[in-house]
Amino acid sequence: MNTEAQEVEKKVLEKIKPSRSDEETLKSIANLVVNELDKFKQQTSIDMKISVEGSFAKGTWLKTDPELDVFIILPNNYNKEFIKNELYPKLRAWLNDYSPIEQYSEHPYLTLQIHGVKVDIVPSIESLPGAKILTAVDRTHLHTEYVKRKTDERLRDEIRLAKAFARGIGVYGAEIKIKGFSGYLLELLTIYYGGFRRLLEAAAYEWIPGKIYIDIERVSDPLQAKQAFGNPPMIVIDPTDPKRNVAAAVSIEKLSEFIMAACLYLSNPKEEFFFPKPLHPVEKKRLLGLAETFFENVVFVELRHKARLPPDTLWGELQRALSIMKNILEKNEFEVYRCDAWSDEKEQSILACLLSTPIKTKYRLIKGPPIKEREHSIRFIEKYLHSPFLGPWIVGDRLYAINVRKEVLATSLIEDHLREILVSDLTDSTAKVSLLSWRPEIIEDEEIGEWILSFLLGKPKWLWALLDYQKV
Ligand code: CTP
Ligand code: MG
Repeated sequence: MNTEAQEVEKKVLEKIKPSRSDEETLKSIANLVVNELDKFKQQTSIDMKISVEGSFAKGTWLKTDPELDVFIILPNNYNKEFIKNELYPKLRAWLNDYSPIEQYSEHPYLTLQIHGVKVDIVPSIESLPGAKILTAVDRTHLHTEYVKRKTDERLRDEIRLAKAFARGIGVYGAEIKIKGFSGYLLELLTIYYGGFRRLLEAAAYEWIPGKIYIDIERVSDPLQAKQAFGNPPMIVIDPTDPKRNVAAAVSIEKLSEFIMAACLYLSNPKEEFFFPKPLHPVEKKRLLGLAETFFENVVFVELRHKARLPPDTLWGELQRALSIMKNILEKNEFEVYRCDAWSDEKEQSILACLLSTPIKTKYRLIKGPPIKEREHSIRFIEKYLHSPFLGPWIVGDRLYAINVRKEVLATSLIEDHLREILVSDLTDSTAKVSLLSWRPEIIEDEEIGEWILSFLLGKPKWLWALLDYQKV
């Protein structure tokens, strides 16, 4: 028995487990929303059930993360188009006073903020066990039933620990921004392994990305499932739907981070894994001073969006833009250490890449073919013979020449390629390219400052738990 870990987990549980009165508060918000939707039902006379689902219904929610999922369940003879074109616009108008944020995963839903609690309102279509599903969330009610049936109070606490751990190390959430572990996935994993610590032990000592296959109720055939799902980093079969991989959203990075964090936690259990320690202001200042030496190596695109996009769409497009930007830099021989994006998810986003240097020399040496490749060599000579720069010449048995670069500044290179980088909805955004050293004032914005600092420090959150500030 790892008593040290037990102590830590006990303390964490005290912080994350909702009290009776927390339960009451959330319940009253749930009632308010359900009432509002009941009125909506009467007004529209659409046949629907209103049901509170998700972690609140399952008793696996975190006090530090109160959140409600209220489902509108339509009978089975409705379809996705009806939700999108009829129900959703009406619902949005009905809830207008709550300033709903439009969301889009595979189909539309709305998010409200009520007394600081995030409330998702999700339209779906009733699904019966075994029947074909019409929208991605139709199994939710079956998930709720399953988790309730398979857990007792102890296991629900273990699930809470697993969620808090995943949240703390930054791998919680299946949304595009994170590509990590959903609440339901952590519930299934904890149920499968019988507890939080056992889950971490499996992750630390057994899991190999690409080779994880978990089917709690043995409802699927491993070979068939592997074929059907391609080769994802992990497969966890949905006990309520053998055709679904609950871990489909998990990226190989987030899985690897979970595995490494589990290893480190087991050998050095600390509360900081669950609640990353904020930097001490003095330490933060010192680290920012260090980070400043890298400011001129960061090429930076500041975006201002004209319209607000659903977060999943926005993050998808930002990640795509970032990967195109990285490719362009690399194709032009800039050494890219790492790239990252930030967004307020409303009007402002930033793309950033850290480079070994933001300026390349004007000239570049081109290593041509060896002369034994006659045809290539003759073509090489023809190409560079009349170029106004050095060469071609021969060293050993090889041809060389000097060429001139079109762009020597990473910033101009990116500016020239903005149309390639900013595609889909981002074409409408205004973009300003700079080096961070030209815009140091931007870090005065607290959120952006934090992001830049953590981008330049380069350490994932689970390593912050082990930071000994004296040694940084
Ligand atoms: N769900 C789903 N498919 C998705 C998203 C959600 O089936 N693409 C269902 C799951 O059954 C999930 C429920 O919707 O349990 C609510 O989603 P979410 O709030 O993300 O998960 P919770 O279980 O409520 O966990 P938590 O809120 O604590 O993260
Ligand atoms: Mg939820």
